[in-house]
Amino acid sequence: MGVPDQEPVDGVDVDWGTARAANLANWDDRVPLHVEAYGLTAFLEDPRHLSTVVSKDLPVLEKHLPPGGLAGLDVCHLQCHIGTDTVSLARAGARVVGVDFSAPALREAARLAGSLGIDAEWVHGDVLEARALVDTTLGPERTFDVVYTSIGTIGWLDDLGAWARQIAELLRPGGVFYIRDGHPMLGTIDEARAEPVARYRYFSDGRALQWDEAATYIGDGTVTATRTYEWAHPISEVVTVLLDAGLTIEAMHEGRTLPWRFAERMIELPDGDFAWPGAEADIVPCTFTIVARRPV
Ligand SMILES: C[S@@+](CC[C@H](N)C(=O)[O-])C[C@H]1O[C@@H](n2cnc3c(N)ncnc32)[C@H](O)[C@@H]1O
Repeated sequence: MGVPDQEPVDGVDVDWGTARAANLANWDDRVPLHVEAYGLTAFLEDPRHLSTVVSKDLPVLEKHLPPGGLAGLDVCHLQCHIGTDTVSLARAGARVVGVDFSAPALREAARLAGSLGIDAEWVHGDVLEARALVDTTLGPERTFDVVYTSIGTIGWLDDLGAWARQIAELLRPGGVFYIRDGHPMLGTIDEARAEPVARYRYFSDGRALQWDEAATYIGDGTVTATRTYEWAHPISEVVTVLLDAGLTIEAMHEGRTLPWRFAERMIELPDGDFAWPGAEADIVPCTFTIVARRPV
């Protein structure tokens, strides 16, 4: 995320089909830029290399897994993008299925996995229909020990109730759901200001925030499909949809660092993450993490 080219418009009444088509065109456009900027060669050069996202997530997730961690577990990775996190989960021992609505992203994900000798499966389509898509793509009744999604996910979805139901139906009884994403409080902050000032909505009313921005969150490239629609989801909404879908919440964390530069004045940390400068790190949370389980 950077400074938008035009003022974002809040409270836009857009239907899901129109919003989804715009977002898909934007995500398709980002793929070649991200293939350049995501540091894919590190995976080829070092067989132990993991994405910074997964290397942060694993120690948290593993506390909720059997003693062997991800080894031998079936993992469904929702919104897997170009597969850097998916192959990292595979390198941690999981059998992985990646789901994403961007066909170019999945092609690159498959190419990356193939080049690393990783045997992954890919499901093309909307995360809000993930259960049915897994059935039609991989065969019926495939269920998972872990459903994982992280960093840049639910803001693209209007209907979090539908999202949570997919997760519950993908999990085996006893299976674990893990999400880490940008904190909804972070989403309120005006990234162009020299101090933390809330500008955008925290609470959701079902209507979208419309953005027009050619830049993406990494590298210098630009997209032609600049229009996107995003939805605010307060923490209480995320927790409630997961509970309503029948999951139990096992853990929740809030983090002071992010794997992308949300605002220009964020400082880069030695591990590649970004943080607010100085004492500001205690003012605005960067991420939230929720670990939930489908009861046995
Ligand atoms: C920021 S990436 C998240 C993955 C990961 N953090 C990464 O950087 O590789 C967001 C992904 O969500 C996907 N996406 C957005 N809306 C979607 C939807 N409705 N259904 C499935 N995938 C969607 C995009 O194609 C993109 O690959």
